[in-house]
Amino acid sequence: MAASREQFGSRLGFILAAAGSAVGIGNMVGFPVAATKNGGGAFLIMYAVFVVLICLPVMLAEMSVGRHSRKDPLNAYVSMTDKEPHWRLAGWLSIITPFMIAVFYLVITVWIFGYLFQSVTGNLDALADPATFGNFIQSSELFIYMVAVLAVVYLILQGGVKQGIEKAAKVMMPALFIMLIGLVIFVLTLDNAFAGVQYYLVPDFSKIDASVVSAALSQAFFSLSLGMGIMITYGSYLDSKTDVPGSAKFVALADTAVAFIAGLLILPAVFSFNPNTNTADLSDSSVGMIFTFLPKIFLALQASIGYIGASVVASLFFLLVFFAAITSLVSIFEVPVSAFMESKRASRKKALGIMGLLLVVTSAIASMSFGIWDPVTAFVNYAGQTKSLFDVIVDVFYDTILPLNGLLICLFVIYRWKKQNFNHELDQGSPSYEGSLFEKYVDFSVGTFIPVILFLVFINTVALKYFGEAIIG
Ligand code: PHE
Repeated sequence: MAASREQFGSRLGFILAAAGSAVGIGNMVGFPVAATKNGGGAFLIMYAVFVVLICLPVMLAEMSVGRHSRKDPLNAYVSMTDKEPHWRLAGWLSIITPFMIAVFYLVITVWIFGYLFQSVTGNLDALADPATFGNFIQSSELFIYMVAVLAVVYLILQGGVKQGIEKAAKVMMPALFIMLIGLVIFVLTLDNAFAGVQYYLVPDFSKIDASVVSAALSQAFFSLSLGMGIMITYGSYLDSKTDVPGSAKFVALADTAVAFIAGLLILPAVFSFNPNTNTADLSDSSVGMIFTFLPKIFLALQASIGYIGASVVASLFFLLVFFAAITSLVSIFEVPVSAFMESKRASRKKALGIMGLLLVVTSAIASMSFGIWDPVTAFVNYAGQTKSLFDVIVDVFYDTILPLNGLLICLFVIYRWKKQNFNHELDQGSPSYEGSLFEKYVDFSVGTFIPVILFLVFINTVALKYFGEAIIG
């Protein structure tokens, strides 16, 4: 049974695939904007501390459960317990959450693909027009782009773990890194670029308050693809000789490095465009930054490098973000696909077909949340706001359930599976982990303060999102 499970071909392949999942739209724009607005270097330090002290242990919890059970999250929770209903529920949450996150992530990836297509075909000037984005997200063109993006995801996933996911990561991740470095070098040669670097890095500790702390933690958690069942699923494609703690460290480092370097691209670009930029001018959301702010900046480059040059820079940027998004989308969609294959004993083709159909329908409906269809545009009201279906998916699955899933996996490994089994699983393939200080830290933190912190984040989000009251911050 275990012998027939697909596996990654090499440790490097696994690291690149997991890093491909972690490096996403959140790294490219979400992180730089959040850091700049919330204290620059002070935010960076806090973020790095969260990655090491909180996220890395949770990542180990997820990967160890995957590798031990050699199953998707739903079947892992079921097979590692006596089928207790509450753990089965945790299993279901770990496959519904990635499915629903895939729904909203696909919508944004489709927009990115559309912008990539438009900049490659010479329409950068139209993209830089502030009215374009609003019209674009209401246009029927979207559905054509959606088909194209899904075809790419399908092509990768039908190849399976080694020939699909791993191969794609081995091509896209190095390409992404080269494009990123190339673009950073280019923007650093622009006038006023260093003012942007300074603005990004100079710490301002006075900006750090409870809500910034909680935002930094959520950003780190999302960025490392935790709480989505992905690291459980990818861990399940490892053999017992793989060094899991060592690999997880690489993944966390690669993800954080890319997020940090992306800031060296975005901020200098913003400052070379307008040296007097201040935090209030930076758009609040990653979406505003990518789709309205940056195209304007790229177009302005035509003064120095011509329209074609500016279009090349814009195209490279959108290709970079597209690669980041595709490897994340592939990883998240693999979770329900793998659960379907295991539960129904179905072939990969069949699981992909059925899950793909569900994803298309749900995403197509969610993508009408921006004015195409009224019932989903004004979907519900809570905490004094009208929310679209898209907003509800983001609020419920991204903001609320992610920390809850993180909390559940922590409680599961320490109190149900038990600490010694957790440690033993991670020791296999990693002799230096056994008995190390890091091991002691991981099992202590996963059993004590990490679940407490995640619980507080969860409760605070519920209070804030649905009742409009903050408990903390
Ligand atoms: N880590 C991804 C990011 O930063 C988040 C993500 C992973 C989203 C997988 C969807 C799927 O964008």
